[in-house]
Amino acid sequence: MVLTRVGTYSPMKVMEKSESPPQQFPLDQRGRALMSLRLSLIDRCNFRCRYCMPAEVFGSDYPFLPPASWMNADEILRLVGNFLPLGVTRLRLTGGEPLLRPGLSHLIERLAGLDGIHDLALTTNGTRLAHMAGEMRRAGLERITISLDSLDENILRKMSGESCRMAPILQGIDEALAVGFQVKLNAVIMRHINQCQILPLVDFARERHIQLRFIEFMDVGNHNHWDRQAVVPDPGRFFSRIQDHYPLESRPPQFTGEVAQRYFFVDKPTLEIGFVSSVTMPFCRDCNRARISSDGKLFTCLFAGDGLDLLSPMRNGSSDKEIQSLIRSRWLQRGDRYSEIRAETISQNDTLKKVEMSYIGG
Ligand code: GTP
Ligand code: 5AD
Ligand code: SF4
Ligand code: SF4
Repeated sequence: MVLTRVGTYSPMKVMEKSESPPQQFPLDQRGRALMSLRLSLIDRCNFRCRYCMPAEVFGSDYPFLPPASWMNADEILRLVGNFLPLGVTRLRLTGGEPLLRPGLSHLIERLAGLDGIHDLALTTNGTRLAHMAGEMRRAGLERITISLDSLDENILRKMSGESCRMAPILQGIDEALAVGFQVKLNAVIMRHINQCQILPLVDFARERHIQLRFIEFMDVGNHNHWDRQAVVPDPGRFFSRIQDHYPLESRPPQFTGEVAQRYFFVDKPTLEIGFVSSVTMPFCRDCNRARISSDGKLFTCLFAGDGLDLLSPMRNGSSDKEIQSLIRSRWLQRGDRYSEIRAETISQNDTLKKVEMSYIGG
């Protein structure tokens, strides 16, 4: 049977027995556990994707964090370690571009050695991947997600900036596969810019047997000129375009709070494709993700305005118990549901202060 996607919000209610949060784990105001941590290692990037770091805003005078304000490796290990007793089992390393962070492989090795992390992943733009994939894999990284919005070099530059080149990204993808990573591709789709790349990207992913995810353009930060009109809603538009060529069947979520709706190709049942539809089908109801910026601030939503500084107390002598208590009480107060509210609101709210995606990680 070929399932078509339903255009209304249907929350995922899957929680495997092994994932059930024990009583001592904090639940937020909406009953959501803290399970997944996304750690930004650096707020800089060598690309200027228009949906994330538009070049006219993120110029040479942009006030990026000075490296002295980054958590060092010991502080990162300590902070991540303090999330584990609260229920976190999944860790994703983000940026900016995390492969620009000095000492990355050694840091991965130490994080992979933490007892309690069951899933260690990283999101990259792929430019440095050909050189670093082997060492990161040997260090214990398991999964890697590579952003690729187009297979046409001109369109890619329109999406990701003038410094963006296709060849190193493609080499990076090949190398990541060769060294044994579980690879996913992320493609953000913007109307009138890379919409024409949907089928070429599907064909590329099918040829290499790589999971591909299409992501709706989101209103992260205050500078990416977001406009609802530029969002291509996947249930209505490109999902059916793909279906016309390659029938898809839906696949249930693998874990609580998975962001992508997953399908498999009927003619290639081991190959999946996913849709991250934060705008048209928000998934706040199961959101169990916390984010940490590279300067050690805790954000409980991708669209938050302020974070809770955890690095200062760590540097000022707070004990692990005190750090955990800070995280716990922030999580207990959490009521975030930004994407649901956006979906319920007709007019665009341009006044809300939000942190930038490159600072908080995706
Ligand atoms: P898996 O662990 O493989 O499921 O990957 P992931 O979806 O967590 O990671 P990835 O970094 O590839 O994110 C895919 C897209 O989903 C990116 O555009 C993210 O910004 C977006 N995303 C991830 N988490 C959230 C979230 O909590 N809220 C919203 N609105 N978008 C999110
Ligand atoms: N909307 C949707 N996805 C975005 N990403 C970055 N900015 C946006 C946005 N405005 C994606 C990147 C990357 C992932 C971490 O987040 O393409 O794959
Ligand atoms: Fe860099 Fe990723 Fe942002 Fe693009 S989306 S500018 S690659 S951090
Ligand atoms: Fe979670 Fe905020 Fe994204 Fe909703 S909008 S899924 S609460 S990060």
